[in-house]
Amino acid sequence: MVVFMHMEAPMKIRKVIFPVGGLGTRFYPITKVIPKEMLGILDKPLIQYAFEEALGAGIKQFIFVTRHGKTSIEDYCDHVLTHMERFDSSKCSFCYVRQGEPRGLGHAVLCARHLVDNEPFAVISADDYISHSSSCIGEMIKHYHGSNMAAIMNVPKKDVSKYGIMDVEKENDKTIIARSVDEKPSVEKAKSTHAIVGRYILTHEIFDVLKNLKPGVKNEIQLTDALLQMIPTHGLVGFKFEGKRFDCGSQEGLLEAILHVSSNDKKLAGVIKKFYENIPP
Ligand code: G1P
Repeated sequence: MVVFMHMEAPMKIRKVIFPVGGLGTRFYPITKVIPKEMLGILDKPLIQYAFEEALGAGIKQFIFVTRHGKTSIEDYCDHVLTHMERFDSSKCSFCYVRQGEPRGLGHAVLCARHLVDNEPFAVISADDYISHSSSCIGEMIKHYHGSNMAAIMNVPKKDVSKYGIMDVEKENDKTIIARSVDEKPSVEKAKSTHAIVGRYILTHEIFDVLKNLKPGVKNEIQLTDALLQMIPTHGLVGFKFEGKRFDCGSQEGLLEAILHVSSNDKKLAGVIKKFYENIPP
């Protein structure tokens, strides 16, 4: 049975977790020294796009789950993000918590438990860049009513095993109510092509579930497994966001994102056009 805890007005979300402790192996060797969240789409690193998305949604507390070798993210916060126009240091704060070893997205979220406390919170994976007319997480917050929620998009069937895949109980225009969710299923076992992308709004009760969770796929503590376990008590909503998502944890996705952002800039669009005109057949 799916339970919605708050059906009235949208709830305020004040805190966001950025899990930035991943290794970024698909970008070795550069990510041996530079965090993948510091890779750039032109002049801004991925973490800045994620930060601006949260700031644009009215979030005030920014929690980075970081690890060894990632201090340039903290330096970037000090030197750039705190100086942004909309950032009001009397109302906003940055917190950093270390994830000793990369034990999965669920484990990263659990590391921030003491900073979140008893309120719903957002999670943004910076390597999923989402180009949006305003803010993807902001759009989710407007539709949030108390269940666990994850952004979803349709993916080609052959790609389902890269994602958490929701099985649909009920589908509406903007949302689906999930019957179940499965982390990286095989093409044969996937129940749909509704894939989770790196935006979540979660209830604080998820911390107790994560704490007691056994490692799942890749021997990691999977956030998806916690979401599945909570469906009977808290429900799970898949949110169909506006805009376009780029998997910037992969070289192909980062390149596409750079081309996408460049094509919206008159001068750079001209460079792309000229480049293709001059490629020999
Ligand atoms: C994580 C989640 C997965 C989700 C994906 C979206 O996987 O575990 O459910 O679909 O992010 O980017 P990862 O890409 O970290 O392996």
